[in-house]
Amino acid sequence: MQPYKDLIEARIEAWCKRLPTQQLYAPMAYLLKLPAKRVRPIAALMACELFGGKAEDALDEALGIELFHNFTLMHDDIMDASPLRRGDPTVHVKWNVNTAILSGDALLVKSFELMGRDAAVRALFNRYALEVCEGQQHDMDFERRTDVTATEYMEMIRLKTAVLLSCALQVGALIAGASDGDRQRIGRFGEQLGLAFQLRDDLLDAFGDPMETGKQRGGDLRAGKKTWLLIRGLEHERADGTSVLSDQIALAPAQRDVHRMGEAMERLGARSDAEAEVSALECSAFEALDSIGVNDERKAALHALATTLMGRRS
Ligand code: IPE
Ligand code: IPE
Ligand code: MG
Ligand code: MG
Ligand code: MG
Repeated sequence: MQPYKDLIEARIEAWCKRLPTQQLYAPMAYLLKLPAKRVRPIAALMACELFGGKAEDALDEALGIELFHNFTLMHDDIMDASPLRRGDPTVHVKWNVNTAILSGDALLVKSFELMGRDAAVRALFNRYALEVCEGQQHDMDFERRTDVTATEYMEMIRLKTAVLLSCALQVGALIAGASDGDRQRIGRFGEQLGLAFQLRDDLLDAFGDPMETGKQRGGDLRAGKKTWLLIRGLEHERADGTSVLSDQIALAPAQRDVHRMGEAMERLGARSDAEAEVSALECSAFEALDSIGVNDERKAALHALATTLMGRRS
């Protein structure tokens, strides 16, 4: 995995070096250079090689996808009122909200520049980029609702998170000249892995170590996010007649005791339910990878990537 990461890091470093130094661009370089996993661009390069291409051939598009991801983070942190990202202050905290909006907009434009070389890649990216925005809109809408179902949640995370991983893999496949069937199969692998990825992200938000996640713990609970964890926790409460979670979400965000909410979710079994769901999604991702008609040796890199994500703590 490291060689792929090194390729991406070098490309990001070179890209940042060429940015003008004025205010609009400084936050881009700041966010991009903070330590990150680079899951999506690594996946794009691996998918390209899986289907017989060279990783270098997909490097521009891999960078484009990482730029798009960083654009979504810059705006997501405003929407989620998050103070920390990758262990450092978020762009809207370090600069201000208007700078984070504009710099994010400019980063989006830059990502489109890189995704425009090939018509098929461009069409795929346009479609999924829009879906990410749709997912983020659902995420915002759900904050104000108390009747969000687990099915609605799964569709929301499919849009906001899973489709971009799927897109990255499909772009790599397209550049390598894979068949439509293979592109769809690798896309399905990405989607299932992406669902597991977001469910784990929600678990890490509630129970992870901020030193490892680089984010504030309990931000989702404070913001009233309707995560699978919370939805399951509320279901358990209705069944056993307790009300810690429902009482807490009735309070204003600043009044919520996120520590108590985490304890309640643990006691109610919602945390272990969510962990089981992550495992089931990971299994289904591996099944999708298995269904691709390429020899196992060639799949080893993507297999290793998925395995690393399964145990991730950041
Ligand atoms: C964070 O993405 C946003 C989610 C979709 C959960 P990552 O967990 O990939 O964040 P970085 O890029 O490694 O910082
Ligand atoms: C982010 O989901 C999804 C996108 C940025 C599109 P989260 O809001 O859970 O991501 P984090 O936890 O802030 O990284
Ligand atoms: Mg968010
Ligand atoms: Mg967020
Ligand atoms: Mg999160």
